Amino acid sequence: MVSSPQRGPGYWHRLLLRLEPERAHDLALGALALTSRSAAGRGLLRRRFSKCASERLSQELLGRRFANPLGMAAGFDKNARTPRGLAALGFGFVEVGTVTPKPQSGNPKPRIFRHPEQESLRNALGFNNDGMDAVHRRITAGYPFPFPLAVNVGKNAATPLDEAESDYEALFRRFSGQADYFVINVSSPNTPGLRELQAPDRLAALIDLGRRLGGKPVMVKLSPDLDTDEAVALGHEVVAAGAAGIIVTNTTIDYRLIPDVPEVGGLSGRVLRARSFEMLEALARALFGKTLLVSVGGVDSGEELYRRLRAGASLVQLYTALVYRGPRLVSSALGRLLELMDRDGIESVADIVGVDLERAG
Ligand SMILES: Cc1cc2nc3c(=O)[nH]c(=O)nc-3n(C[C@H](O)[C@H](O)[C@H](O)COP(=O)(O)O)c2cc1C
Repeated sequence: MVSSPQRGPGYWHRLLLRLEPERAHDLALGALALTSRSAAGRGLLRRRFSKCASERLSQELLGRRFANPLGMAAGFDKNARTPRGLAALGFGFVEVGTVTPKPQSGNPKPRIFRHPEQESLRNALGFNNDGMDAVHRRITAGYPFPFPLAVNVGKNAATPLDEAESDYEALFRRFSGQADYFVINVSSPNTPGLRELQAPDRLAALIDLGRRLGGKPVMVKLSPDLDTDEAVALGHEVVAAGAAGIIVTNTTIDYRLIPDVPEVGGLSGRVLRARSFEMLEALARALFGKTLLVSVGGVDSGEELYRRLRAGASLVQLYTALVYRGPRLVSSALGRLLELMDRDGIESVADIVGVDLERAG
């Protein structure tokens, strides 16, 4: 397809950025879902957006092949409407959710806010999703997927914290046949009390449930607002409890990062980058080689992707930069990663992971 200078994706992207953020998100997701419903539509998307397939980018992890190390972070496709569409944009893996047992509408709107000067977002969605049965039906319709699919799970807002385990139990059972791995989300700032589940004994119980009932690897997604030492200690505990990996980080409630920002919701994007990287580095120093690290938060380029891999992340995800840079970001970041690998004489992505740690001794 040939794009005219005025009406290429740049035009549509600019238009979306002028709409109310949640409406723009729903439209973009809807358009992607519609286009990717057929194999022909997915082929079209792949030809237009997914230009960086290379064996050099692929890795075997958790018993599956990841075609490249850049994945779609949780929250973009909460209801698994279009995992195949996202893969057709070039992502190497997709995390759907957060899914809760029962459907819930989340917090009152408006609840997504752009901070364009900082290329950042603030969201107070509160796990709005269709619930596990609807999401399960949708995943079943597309199963199996030719790429790794993670299911990110969380508790319903109405479930008392003391009964949270039963929510996670239901979710692990529901998706045990479909998820390549689970992500336990105990780090969203938008469900009151949820972050209290980041306590070692409570997390250990959830990980154990996930492994027994879900029968799949379980990762834990941590908050950037934990004290760094506390995060490292917790990292040791979750690995000892059998977690296959740690995702750092979710959004932050450090509102000092944006001047005069209303203190509601979690911040993502460029303002989160430094903290997210700092947490990755700390966890990698403590746990590299003992668990799989997934880095997310402020990644917006091939350089940043390369930096995260070098620091010890085996996989990297993004969300907010896609909003500001548009879908061509995926192949441009992967293309740049290949250039950087060429520059540094690195053959395969697996050879990048953790090299900076090894150098630091
Ligand atoms: C609008 C929005 C919704 C999100 N929803 C979820 C969610 O449901 N579950 C989750 O674990 N993370 C969620 N996240 C967090 C992202 O997965 C990611 O951890 C965070 O945004 C940092 O990455 P980024 O800077 O690339 O956006 C959401 C983020 C945004 C911006």
